[in-house]
Amino acid sequence: MNKITAAITAVGGYVPETKLTNFDLEKMVDTNDEWIRTRTGISERRILKEPGKATSDLGAPAILEVLRKRGISAAEIECIICATVTADMVFPATANIIADKIGATNAFGFDLNAACSGFLFALTTGAAYIESGRYKKVIVVGADKMSAITDYTDRNTCVLFGDASAAVLLEPNEEGLGIQDSLLKSDGSGAKFLHMKAGGSLKPASVESVLAREHYAYQEGQSVFKFAVKGMADVSAELLERNQLTGDDISWLVPHQANLRIVDATANRMGLSKDKVMINIERYGNTTAATIPLCLWEWESKLKKGDNLVLAAFGGGFTWGATLIKWAY
Ligand code: UT7
Repeated sequence: MNKITAAITAVGGYVPETKLTNFDLEKMVDTNDEWIRTRTGISERRILKEPGKATSDLGAPAILEVLRKRGISAAEIECIICATVTADMVFPATANIIADKIGATNAFGFDLNAACSGFLFALTTGAAYIESGRYKKVIVVGADKMSAITDYTDRNTCVLFGDASAAVLLEPNEEGLGIQDSLLKSDGSGAKFLHMKAGGSLKPASVESVLAREHYAYQEGQSVFKFAVKGMADVSAELLERNQLTGDDISWLVPHQANLRIVDATANRMGLSKDKVMINIERYGNTTAATIPLCLWEWESKLKKGDNLVLAAFGGGFTWGATLIKWAY
């Protein structure tokens, strides 16, 4: 029997309708469209505005689209892994809430927190379940309602983030297609540059923490930028090298969308021209765990069976990594 690989067999996505443009932000903080576009590549992002709606409300429709496309029922899903830093609640896991919302009554689920690298970490975890033969239908969803932890009085961060979700179905493949290799890394000494100060066990929520605006994403942009440029480019190059590939063998780079300049640096290092790089940061901003599957969702119709894709990310933790995929359909 051939070795079982884990292949993505369908992609779904969901973005809320409300747009927050650079011009809207100009009215909220001391910023301008030109600065945001040239420093980040972002023009607008989507915001989940409706009261009472949470990350699970982004994740559920993305998964329902996957099921519709693949023609399977929610009851057939065996596992849901939700990559997120904006869980509906500290507990239970958002994956469980999503499972309930879509009727995935036979699935177990859990959340995985690896910030902007969350989708790659979750994809690699889901793939291992499939490769071992233990499960045959695993959903990996990246979902983040970043607007819930964004301080709209802080121009350093509020221009960066947006809300979105996208999901993939992983199934066994016997043609050798799907996930080929993954290189994942983390370094907790980077935590000081990108984190949320309060709301965890280190500093539980209090009147003081709220007044000090400590329940929002905090980032030292320049420091993160330096690590991100190097980390994402290095790990992508290392992945190519250990698979004896060059940029010429790669059909698509699917990068985490934090900053267009980081994406360009990674593509240059891999020797890839811009037409081989999926970029939608201008319309969605940084949607944390959702950026990479959101690209797959938007580019799905352009992908061909056998295409080599490199997915690459860098984010809070620090966490970073790259995954090589041979597209399966
Ligand atoms: O996804 C997770 C990982 N995160 C990342 O990969 C993000 C990495 N970092 C970045 O993408 C960039 O550092 C930022 C986009 C966050 C910032 O860009 P930068 O080129 O590093 O700008 P900076 O922080 O060095 O700030 C340059 C100047 C400062 O003014 P002075 O001190 O030079 O007068 C800032 O105060 O730009 C100012 N500034 C702004 N001006 C207008 C910062 N934010 C804004 C703003 N509008 N929104």
